Amino acid sequence: MSTLRVTVLVSGSGSNLQALIDARDQGRLHLQFLQVISNKADAYALQRAETAGIRTALLPHTDFAGREEFDQTLARQIAQGDPELVILAGFMRILGPAVLGQFQGRMINLHPSLLPLYRGTNTYQRALDARDAEHGASLHFVSAELDGGPLISQVRIPVEPGDTAATLAARLAPQEHRLIVSTTGLFCDGLVSCRGSQVLFRGKHLNRPLQLQSDGSFLV
Ligand code: GRF
Repeated sequence: MSTLRVTVLVSGSGSNLQALIDARDQGRLHLQFLQVISNKADAYALQRAETAGIRTALLPHTDFAGREEFDQTLARQIAQGDPELVILAGFMRILGPAVLGQFQGRMINLHPSLLPLYRGTNTYQRALDARDAEHGASLHFVSAELDGGPLISQVRIPVEPGDTAATLAARLAPQEHRLIVSTTGLFCDGLVSCRGSQVLFRGKHLNRPLQLQSDGSFLV
């Protein structure tokens, strides 16, 4: 496993960022965190980064005249240090061509649903309303389509009788942490890449997302 230069984009609590930091600290992932970028000043993720000694950058989208200006500044900020992988871990902004043109194929997003089901927000309640037997989380390459880029990996949990959006979210969170760490490990090992709309795993097209198993391995 070689050391991978990563930049993480956040907007919220940063528990997934913490999972990556912990995995790095425990020697399970060989990562060099270039920086953590937030569009929210009050994101707890920024404190987590500072505690871990990772450089932070704050770019409040509300400070910019429009989406394009924000995206251009964000693209310049992300480019610093030349990250090999850009991880969107709870980053709540849609990104436009200024960012995607530069980073498509090396930018991944964590989403709390079994994509292509439930793009966008409120995924837990939507899964409950549909009486789904399973819910889960997905990691995908970022494309111009919201939560619509090529799928890399997923983790699944059963929906239990009596589940609410809150209980489902609480049970999924630790599984998301496992998914983001294990999938980032695949990038450290150089096993995953993106070619156009196709994901390559060990050099072969993936027909369905890798499924994270309870033992930490992926089912292809
Ligand atoms: C996660 O549920 C992730 O799937 C979604 O936003 C949440 C981020 O949580 N995109 P945290 O900020 O990492 O705790």
